[in-house]
Amino acid sequence: MQNKLNELKELFLSEIKNTDSQENLEILEKDFLWKTGKLKEILKGIKDLTPDEKKIIGPEANKLKVFIENEISEKSKKLEEEKFAKMEEDEQIDVTLQFPSKDKGHKHPISITSNLLEEIFISLGFTVEDGPQVEVEEFNFDKLNIPDNHPARDVWDTFWISDEINNEKESGTKNLLRTHTSPVQVRTMLKWELPIKIVVPGRVFRYEQEDARHTCNFYQLEWLVVGEKVTFGDLKGTLETVMKKLLWEKTELRFRPSIFPFTEPSAEIDVSCQICQWTGKVKWKKCSMCSATGWVELLGAWMVHPKVLEDCGIDSEKYSWFAFGMWIDRIAAQRFGVSSSRMFYQSKLKLNEQF
Ligand code: PHE
Repeated sequence: MQNKLNELKELFLSEIKNTDSQENLEILEKDFLWKTGKLKEILKGIKDLTPDEKKIIGPEANKLKVFIENEISEKSKKLEEEKFAKMEEDEQIDVTLQFPSKDKGHKHPISITSNLLEEIFISLGFTVEDGPQVEVEEFNFDKLNIPDNHPARDVWDTFWISDEINNEKESGTKNLLRTHTSPVQVRTMLKWELPIKIVVPGRVFRYEQEDARHTCNFYQLEWLVVGEKVTFGDLKGTLETVMKKLLWEKTELRFRPSIFPFTEPSAEIDVSCQICQWTGKVKWKKCSMCSATGWVELLGAWMVHPKVLEDCGIDSEKYSWFAFGMWIDRIAAQRFGVSSSRMFYQSKLKLNEQF
């Protein structure tokens, strides 16, 4: 069996040497490491070994598995670097060239989605509101029931304006890049007469580990309704109408209980993933948009916390209300079938030109 493992290693090394694309690298991974792959095939024989032999072969096989995994990830990195180096060369721009009229440019997929959302909400009687991207701590946190030292501040950690400016300011008045569009809820409730029925599209920022769903700058659409006799049924019905219009008729919604300091009760709402058609897989690979679960979180929501209302001078006994925060980038990715919302920020003309 040791021989077989050695042969497998040789074979792997010779094949990876000739692998020249991410697609082929994935095929190689499948061929060697997956359940139906060559390594597993060899390991089926392990049950016939003596306990002593097993003690040796087991760790050896594991070593080989880790070796193959590392080689594949190294190669993947290398291929990616080569790809970007080539792209840089191919896509160099000569600013002295005449601009061809057919390449005039058009809206970015996120703007297209945001505009579409605005249109849908305007047709449902909402007003579009705006707020500053550089916010004060009080509106981004305190007035949303997230006081200083509240653990939820970690979840919404963000980029603060330089110490030289902020150090001079009192707690609550310090400036930061807003982590969500929710401060505009506060601004509007403090400013407007009731009833309120607004949407707030806008750019937000987070101190975030980036992946297919997370980027440190992205777009949200906040949605706030405050009035008499607003019910959960209104919320659910409106949301379903919007999602079906935006994505596709068969969109399923899933409500999960959650915690937001400024809503009570709170929920996170997922939609069935359009990228993998709710299967969790794209071709034979795990769907990275939904982490192979079939569901993508698109919204945080629910009834605004009474304390938030009272702090904004609204009688929480008399009025009911709900609020949502939608992830426009994820909606755009779902709508246009783009497997990672991170791609929207990579200035890839080839991607953007398709929409
Ligand atoms: N502001 C929340 C976030 O960014 C989302 C949210 C908005 C939740 C409105 C509830 C109500 O995560």
